[in-house]
Amino acid sequence: MDLPSPRPNIQRLQTYKPNFGKSKIHNLIRLSANESALGASLNAVEALKIFSGDLNRYPPQVSDELTSAISKRYSLEKKKIILGNGSDELISILAQTFLNSNDEAIYTEFGFLQFPQAICIAGAKGVVANDTNYTANVDNILSKVNKNTKIIFLANPNNPTGTFLPKTEVMRLHSSIPSNILFVYDAAYSEYVVNNDYFDGSELVDTNENVIMLRTFSKLHGLASLRLGWGYASKKIIENLMKVRGPFSINSAAIMAGIAAIEDLEFQNKSIEHNLKWMSWLKTELQLLNLDFQPSITNFLLIKFPNNNRHNAQNAENFLASKGILVRGMKVYGLSDHLRVSIGNETENLRFIEELKIFLEN
Ligand SMILES: Cc1ncc(COP(=O)(O)O)c(C=O)c1O
Repeated sequence: MDLPSPRPNIQRLQTYKPNFGKSKIHNLIRLSANESALGASLNAVEALKIFSGDLNRYPPQVSDELTSAISKRYSLEKKKIILGNGSDELISILAQTFLNSNDEAIYTEFGFLQFPQAICIAGAKGVVANDTNYTANVDNILSKVNKNTKIIFLANPNNPTGTFLPKTEVMRLHSSIPSNILFVYDAAYSEYVVNNDYFDGSELVDTNENVIMLRTFSKLHGLASLRLGWGYASKKIIENLMKVRGPFSINSAAIMAGIAAIEDLEFQNKSIEHNLKWMSWLKTELQLLNLDFQPSITNFLLIKFPNNNRHNAQNAENFLASKGILVRGMKVYGLSDHLRVSIGNETENLRFIEELKIFLEN
């Protein structure tokens, strides 16, 4: 007898493959996953050291302490907060909760990869709206809306492009769609943004029932290993998501560390300053090397390589990997001429540019 076969849409799916390296080189420099350059808040590390939660006990289904800390830090309504095992889990359960097989969900051309993955796993139809200059385009998104559209996914700023839509454009998009479409606004990198024309979307949630803002502890707060994300949405959305979310998907250690991290404003401000300083430095260095890149407002840069000679993106990725430096190839996004590079600590950034120069000179 044959094994049971997975659903056809699962058979078509590719497994998500991060670039964490296969190299045996020690002290790998990992600039491939947009992680925090300065590690985590020492308060969070300390909280884990003294963590003495009963290991035999399940974690709370909803941590009042953590949702209170988030609500205080960002001045949001506590009852509208949902926690997830990373914001990835929330993206998945949004698709599972709302999409039927004949529904359509729109995502942008170079939008975050988890959106089409989640739509496909849910068994619905993903519809791509083309970008303009590597940036989401509101008119293109609106042109894809029809009676079958159930969700619009938008990461703002977007990964892997680093580009963003100003608040006015996001508001125009939201006000142009019917209220029976769910607007998923993923603001994973919002804490790094200093531009005045950007907004994190929370005020849209406060005034509309069809919006969810997604956030994460994996970037600025440096807790990627603990898998902790959160969403902010109307009570109706949260109630339904809670039926689908794993009942205990946020573990007790993540809760402890999350509370300590979100209260550590000093670490957050230091990380933002570090990011601004090194982003500006990296952009200057890349310009000196005649490499083109997108004007990122995040903690990573999408860099374009020539495609007609040996200094192409694939060779650059391989060369850097041979030197113990991991960056993210972009073939999976259809951007094979590009590499995405996160801002690292001082030593990592200097080493990256040093090796990139050697690659381009040879
Ligand atoms: C736009 C965007 N959303 C969500 C995530 C997932 O974050 P988490 O670690 O909370 O699952 C990422 C991670 O790279 C991201 O880039």
